[in-house]
Amino acid sequence: MNKTRQVDLGTPASSGADAVTVEIDGLPATVKAGSSILRAARESGVDIPKLCATDSVKPFGSCRMCLVEIDGRNGYPASCTTLVEAGMKIRTQTEALSRLRRNVMELYISDHPLDCLTCSANGDCELQDMAGAVGLRDVRYGFDGENHLDAPVDDSNPYFQFDASKCIVCSRCVRACDEVQGTFALTIEGRGFKSKVSAGIGENFLDSECVSCGACIQACPTATLMEKSIVDHGMPDHKVVTTCAYCGVGCSFQAEMKGEQVVRMTPYKDGQANHGHSCVKGRFAWGYASHRDRVMQPLIREKTSDPWREVSWDEAIGYAAKRFKEIQAEHGRKSIGGITSSRCTNEEVFVVQKLVRAAFGNNNVDTCARVCHSPTGYGLKTTLGTSAGTQPFDSVMDADVIIVIGANPTVAHPVFASQMKRRLREGAELIVVDPREIGLVRSPHVEAAHHLPLLPGTNVPVINALAHVIVAEGLVDEDYVRERCDVDSFDAWKAMILKPENSPEEVANVSGVDADNIRAAARLYGKARNGAIYYGLGVTEHSQGSTMVMGMANLAMATGNLGRSGVGVNPLRGQNNVQGSCDMGSFPHELAGYRPVAEDSVRHQFENHWGVTIDPEPGFRIPNMFDAACAGEFKGMYIQGEDLAQSDPNTHHVEAALSSMECIVVQDLFLNETAKFAHVFLPGTSFLEKDGTFINAERRINRVRPVMKAQQGKDEWQISQELSVAMGYPMHYDNAAQIMDEIAELTPTFNNVSFAFLDDVGSVQWPCNDAAPMGTPIMHIDQFVRGKGLFVETDYEPTKERTNRKFPLLLTTGRILSQYNVGAQTRRTANNVWYGEDLLEVHPHDAETRGIRDGELVALASRKGDITLRARITTRVKPGVVYTTFHNPETGANVVTTEYGDWATDCPEYKVTAVQIAPASHRSGWQEEFAARAEQQGKIVETN
Ligand code: SF4
Ligand code: SF4
Ligand code: SF4
Ligand code: FES
Repeated sequence: MNKTRQVDLGTPASSGADAVTVEIDGLPATVKAGSSILRAARESGVDIPKLCATDSVKPFGSCRMCLVEIDGRNGYPASCTTLVEAGMKIRTQTEALSRLRRNVMELYISDHPLDCLTCSANGDCELQDMAGAVGLRDVRYGFDGENHLDAPVDDSNPYFQFDASKCIVCSRCVRACDEVQGTFALTIEGRGFKSKVSAGIGENFLDSECVSCGACIQACPTATLMEKSIVDHGMPDHKVVTTCAYCGVGCSFQAEMKGEQVVRMTPYKDGQANHGHSCVKGRFAWGYASHRDRVMQPLIREKTSDPWREVSWDEAIGYAAKRFKEIQAEHGRKSIGGITSSRCTNEEVFVVQKLVRAAFGNNNVDTCARVCHSPTGYGLKTTLGTSAGTQPFDSVMDADVIIVIGANPTVAHPVFASQMKRRLREGAELIVVDPREIGLVRSPHVEAAHHLPLLPGTNVPVINALAHVIVAEGLVDEDYVRERCDVDSFDAWKAMILKPENSPEEVANVSGVDADNIRAAARLYGKARNGAIYYGLGVTEHSQGSTMVMGMANLAMATGNLGRSGVGVNPLRGQNNVQGSCDMGSFPHELAGYRPVAEDSVRHQFENHWGVTIDPEPGFRIPNMFDAACAGEFKGMYIQGEDLAQSDPNTHHVEAALSSMECIVVQDLFLNETAKFAHVFLPGTSFLEKDGTFINAERRINRVRPVMKAQQGKDEWQISQELSVAMGYPMHYDNAAQIMDEIAELTPTFNNVSFAFLDDVGSVQWPCNDAAPMGTPIMHIDQFVRGKGLFVETDYEPTKERTNRKFPLLLTTGRILSQYNVGAQTRRTANNVWYGEDLLEVHPHDAETRGIRDGELVALASRKGDITLRARITTRVKPGVVYTTFHNPETGANVVTTEYGDWATDCPEYKVTAVQIAPASHRSGWQEEFAARAEQQGKIVETN
């Protein structure tokens, strides 16, 4: 049998609390009430044969393989659909049962190609296993009659194939698509002998609604649905459990290997964030790790107009250290800084921020969270006391009303979206606050009770209006507020929120959302037994990002929706380790655990441990670094896994800043856009080579385990350590576990964390210390971390970015499912088949008045710059709003975005840019320059 196959208990776990004792084949078995007999038997070590049942979906009872005998009952009930009852006496192996099962198997096998030896599922096929289990030796019915053996193979999907000749029509795939993924892409078409699995009438998988999550493949007991990587390379021989390196859901996967080669990634059933589910990125889009574009040798060059020169690690690190020291000698200690990466492990991040503080001697360290969730840190810390979300993902299963604000979970956090959709199908109500009609607003069996299609930039008035209704209509949980919150702050907030400008009618004028719609949504949330808020970058990436985060915390406190399961304020954090990179002390004003660098006691703890003096002055944030660079005061940057040139706003300004620096060191997998401005390139490692931890959006610390050694010769923490040593500050880590030990020692919320502990318990949510030895799934249970919850007044200060006659439309940006962020990884996979270029969504009305046609080039211009891209005419956006993604560097979406940012954290206002659009016939000037630079970039002189 395949050595990587995960345990299958036949039917889902029962949620029942009581225990029931039955007798199975003469032995007592105690299981949860509500368990199926099949599951009870399997939990007790008795494998009843099965085909149509699997523990990820509800039982169906169609194959008749799992029949049992029960004392006192007639016939042979299916054990997958029959629940245990106290005292039941069950027999799973009798002569009659064997005969029945053999008969069933004979029928299956008589319409199945008997090519087991050459089948890609050989050794991992449940049909093959069952034939063995029931002792099938002979098939009485020949293959002469009508059969499906010539059914065609659908190999349209880049990652898996559908070989209909091997299908036993058990419908596990259909149920997985419905129940686990919630896409409802598959059906069983036809009846009886003619029944077959269909991905849509006359459609192949690629053209269907299928989103390639892989749930059906996972569920399929035969080789019908099969990964192409397995067809090509054969079955894996070992596995390593690790964590996906894409989004903040933090799914656990089995990397399934043949020797040092990964042949498949399968979602890990014991993964506490994903419970065995996945999306197309984590499941399939890992090929970038071995893409030919990956740089394997360090590179240096004197000037950015020179070709790159391949050098040894020692030369590259020595050169970077020498240049940084020279710059500091000439321009001062604060003239250089570093950026940590939310793609890297906590351990790698921790070493970089330590390098900056201890070896560079300043606090000029920042992270890409600056441009995504820094307002979350500020807003939740101010109101509740902790810079992180309040709930585990599983909490959503207890929510009755769910508000999704400025997030598009089905594309950006797909596995969590599937879980949320499950809860919605069970009856929870949904409110979507978003300028666009995102997928959640209307999808199979899910429909939002209210969609509030607000104008970009008007989150704060809308949250204030929701609060206004709740306060005005007596929906405040007064007891909760009096007991748990700072009452003075509540009274001040209440007075502010009741001002006429916060009424739904007034806010309707500002936001474009109908007042009745706001009122109805407020009542729904305000009256919910459990109301939960989930939000994303559509909240934070505004000039009022922090105000809005606090507005949501105010609303949740006012309604008593914090501190238990089913409620909370939950950021859907973007990158795999954005939570961790913040936790690790990547901000210029905070050391690990969000403790101020300006506070003597905090600094002294680190100083004593590190044997160095730490600057008490907070350092530069990323935008400050760019401004100082343009002013000639900031000259060098060490950039770990972050493509600033593509991902930061106002590209012209970013490029001017990067061009002005004397030494930029980029550490990455690929020569990214920022590397075009770099002098030293240090090749990084993919997640498959990393040893460490990532922290997901629910504060869960997950292990990342190496499945192969560092392909370019060094772990990333080693590279940073060697740079530190070369700069004159010694570091002595032998492995990543030692780094985590130091993090745990220096960070109160991580005190009990170690690799050994995580390997033992699987994963844990911080805080994890003596007060919470097994971690803290739900925050603020008895009291808020800051003591009393603080209400903060959230007066609306509109953005300075305004529409006018020249720029009458509002541009907002977002993501799609198959690409990820700046696309460095996904663009180097077959995911391009779904989305090869960034498109501009335009409402038909705006398109018509400008003569823009679907699929044609349009010029998109703002006060900052202009680009061209293709139009997609759609009513998903409302008139006056256009929308695009930023996955492709050649599009240059950030050429048009502005330098405005959140008042508290400088998080850029990506979501609101005043623009104009017009038909176009050629690329913009910036795009021409980009193409020229791309040509230069590729030049490498090999010297070793
Ligand atoms: S494709 Fe697989 S899971 Fe789906 S019905 Fe056929 S055999 Fe069953
Ligand atoms: S890959 Fe996912 S979405 Fe596609 S058919 Fe299978 S279960 Fe459904
Ligand atoms: S949901 Fe996120 S973490 Fe999970 S597989 Fe997809 S990209 Fe990876
Ligand atoms: S496994 Fe129970 S009827 Fe198929």
